[in-house]
Amino acid sequence: MKFDILTLFPEMFDVFNHSIIKRAREKGIVELNVHDIRDYTTNKHKKVDDYPYGGGAGMVMQAEPIYNAVESIKEIYGYKPYTILMSPKGKKYNQDLCRELSNIKHIMLICGHYEGIDERIMPLVDLEISIGDYVLTGGEIAAMAIVDSVSRMVPGVLSTQESFENESFYEGLLEYPQYTRPEVFRGMKVPDVLLSGNHSKILEWRRYQSLKITYERRRDLIEKADLSPDDIKMLERIKKECSDNS
Ligand code: ADE
Repeated sequence: MKFDILTLFPEMFDVFNHSIIKRAREKGIVELNVHDIRDYTTNKHKKVDDYPYGGGAGMVMQAEPIYNAVESIKEIYGYKPYTILMSPKGKKYNQDLCRELSNIKHIMLICGHYEGIDERIMPLVDLEISIGDYVLTGGEIAAMAIVDSVSRMVPGVLSTQESFENESFYEGLLEYPQYTRPEVFRGMKVPDVLLSGNHSKILEWRRYQSLKITYERRRDLIEKADLSPDDIKMLERIKKECSDNS
């Protein structure tokens, strides 16, 4: 999986010199190339922004350095990678979109700043993505969320396939609670079933907890989830318990 990032703040991506993505880069499973948009300016002061036509507060990023950067990347690879613009106006990011992106071999992410980017960069863009209904100071943190979440879907990045299959959102449900040693911490005990060694009981408990937490917190996900007949029976029990407790 290859990512090329266009940004005014390349150092921000040093975050990927740590932990799981660092290891994946060292193994050559993930490649990350960060390009400073300022390096593609043609003016003496490396200025990348200007006042908006029509007036208004703030500055707008100019199209030219971004075109220059994309053209230079195109020359390196012989093609233009699938290009995503990070923007609060974009398609809302979720695990389904993450999974789709993990099937693309090479992605280029453009990070905006200031009050926006000149609309004329849009012919370069294949998809605009927002990571949520809030406004960040720039697209970098959003691009990091994409690089991180897409990379962990790539086979070999996590130690076992299973470690992402069980997690929140993978099957459309939130994750069950986890515990580690000690058995009793500040008076709080690990649920007995997890100490029982009974594997099928543990699986059943975990499924029940997943369904329960998802029902309590994200009913929208329950409606979309692909539930088995056993899940539906468990859910009936959960609904009954919830109504008994209210
Ligand atoms: N840039 C600023 N806010 C953003 C958001 N919510 N998602 C993606 N890019 C952004």
